[in-house]
Amino acid sequence: MAIAQDRDPFELFGEWFGEAEDCGLKEPTAVALATADEAGRPSVRMVLLKSHDERGFVFYTNVESRKGQQLGVNPYAALCFHWMPIGRQVRIEGPVTMVTAAEADEYFASRQKDSQIGAWASKQSAPLEGMLALERQVAKYAIKYGIGKVPRPDFWSGYRLAPERIEFWLHRASRLHERLLFERGDGGWNKQRLFP
Ligand SMILES: Cc1cc2nc3c(=O)[nH]c(=O)nc-3n(C[C@H](O)[C@H](O)[C@H](O)COP(=O)(O)O)c2cc1C
Repeated sequence: MAIAQDRDPFELFGEWFGEAEDCGLKEPTAVALATADEAGRPSVRMVLLKSHDERGFVFYTNVESRKGQQLGVNPYAALCFHWMPIGRQVRIEGPVTMVTAAEADEYFASRQKDSQIGAWASKQSAPLEGMLALERQVAKYAIKYGIGKVPRPDFWSGYRLAPERIEFWLHRASRLHERLLFERGDGGWNKQRLFP
């Protein structure tokens, strides 16, 4: 089955993502996120995709983390999904902006309380002298916010990657994999097949 070239990339992503959600993977939203520092040195780590639409692809994190600092000085990123059971990879690249405070508040409020406490307790990417120190931080915020609503820390928010380039890769037998690249142009998306 070939990927039809007349597809809209967001629609196609939605379709593949739906199949990934149904293929038995525990975390189909898990995606590798690459960022780079001021000098262009890359780093990569996994995050969870929390929403996607025509505006872009959203993940949440600590804005003071290593990735947050890198996005602060170099607001471009790349995402790479791999859904092995269905033989698919999707690569997405583009500029990144922060979601609005209202959007971050809404998502933060939907999280489990222990995740909300965890966001307060973790100075993500900073040196930690031992696990006990982390447990102390968790206990401190669990007491502080034991009753009632946990507010969103102002150092915790979401980023939206607005794609300029989306590539769909489909595994095919004999390594004749199919690649379809969409690049955003002035008049819409330019489409191009690539050698595997
Ligand atoms: C499957 C998986 C999902 C993850 N999801 C997130 C996430 O959504 N947000 C986040 O900040 N870290 C997430 N992490 C942890 C990151 O990979 C990383 O360790 C952390 O964000 C610190 O990265 P940094 O020091 O480069 O900023 C996840 C890790 C794994 C293995």
